Parts: sequence; structure tokens; C-alpha cells
Amino acid sequence: MINGESSLIGIFDSGIGGFSVLKEIKKTSNADIFYFGDCARAPYGNRDIEEIALFIKEIILYLKSKGVIHFVSACNSMSVLMTNKLLQECNIEDFLYVDMIRAFKKYYDLPSSAKVLLIGTQATIHSNVYQNFLKEKTDTIFEYIPATLAGDIELNIGEEKLKEIIIPIISEAKNKGASHIVYGCTHYPLVHNVFQKCADEIGWFGIFIDPAIYVAQAVSEWDIPGNNILTFETSKETKAFKRERDSLLNV
Ligand code: DGL
Repeated sequence: MINGESSLIGIFDSGIGGFSVLKEIKKTSNADIFYFGDCARAPYGNRDIEEIALFIKEIILYLKSKGVIHFVSACNSMSVLMTNKLLQECNIEDFLYVDMIRAFKKYYDLPSSAKVLLIGTQATIHSNVYQNFLKEKTDTIFEYIPATLAGDIELNIGEEKLKEIIIPIISEAKNKGASHIVYGCTHYPLVHNVFQKCADEIGWFGIFIDPAIYVAQAVSEWDIPGNNILTFETSKETKAFKRERDSLLNV
């Protein structure tokens, strides 16, 4: 059993989205973490599933070569595609792997009266993985794909442009009477302040749910000690990646 022993955790995403997950994990864990963001090929969410599956394998095998033992998929577009077969092909034991979906299913705690607006990439929403689970928990689910948003966050577009994309999402939540918005893409919590501003402006008073909190719960169950050493790698050093990394390293 590896729980309770020192071990390197690998966290991966198509780009900078996984930083929102890393920030939550760091609140409850001192484990040493190797973060990989595939900024050169981000966004993944509009790609076809065969291609994303190939990227998952490449990244996991790369992280293994870096000494990673525990794996966290901090990307919904990858998490919805992760199958037992793919895990086996990567030669990872089930208990050494956590992702957005597994954690969401395990720790989900919304009331049954919740009316959920799920927002995510095309890959995530079209997979229906979240919706199939939510249907068992609540009667009312709506979905919305802000097709360019993850890529726009990677490109570091400014607040005004973000608002143009986010206002229609919040309007949809208000018009449909949604009580909760679930961030089904890890990029979105990185601009939560803009979501909140738009909600305040429009007068939507519901609750934003960031599934990263559930992932942090799952990781804390691994109970991995460490020295808080953070290592970052990306396939392309972008402004946004640098900003997120530096803010975590307090540079
Ligand atoms: N952050 C990822 C997600 O949670 C990927 C977004 C993208 O690359 O399109 O889905």
C-alpha cells in the first residue's frame, strides 16, 4: 500500500486549467507535486475523443518517466474519457488514480432540489458522463457549452471579452431558474471572479460549484506526506502558464 508513504503526485491538464485543482489540493496536502500542462496543444475540448485518448496516454507515460506514482487528471475533457482499459494500458492501478468525475461522483453533496446548470467543453458535455450521474441525484439539469472559453482563458483575454462570453451563461442560469452552476471545466474557476461579477450584475444569486474541492478530498484520503515541493512543466511556456505558476511559487 502506498497511502501514507511519501510519493510524487502528478497533476495534468490540457493547459493551465489544472492550476485551479492544484490550488484546492494544496489547501489540505503537503505532498510533492509534478504539474504538467499541455499548453502547446490546448484547448482539448473541441478535439475528437480518439485524439484526446492518445494525449492522455502520452502524458501519463511521460509523468511516469518523471517518477510520478499517484495521478490526478485535472481536466474534465480527459476525465470523461478515462476507462479502466485506458488505465490498464497505462499500467496504473485503480487506487493510484483520481479524476474530476470519480471525485465528483464520490463526494457530490448538492441537495436533491438543486437545479443544475452544467457548463463544460464539447468533449465533456457530449460525453453525457456528468448528466448521467446528475440525473440520479436531481430532476433538473441544463447544459451549456461556452465553446471558446477554455481557449480564451489560455490566451489570457481580458475581463471585458470574458464578460461577453460569461454574461449569456449567467443569463441562461437565471432564465432557467438554476440554483447551481457546476464548473465542468477546470479552466473556468480560474476566472471565477468574472463569473461572480456577471452574476452580481445580472442578479443571479445561485451557487457556483467547483468539482476541484471534491478532488482535493480524494487526494487528502491518499494521505501522502511531502515537503510541498512543486515542479511545473508545460509543452509551451505561455504568459498564462507563467502567471499561474509564479503565483503558486510566490515569485
Ligand atoms: N480544463 C480542461 C477541462 O476541464 C480542458 C479544457 C480544454 O482544453 O478545452 O475540460
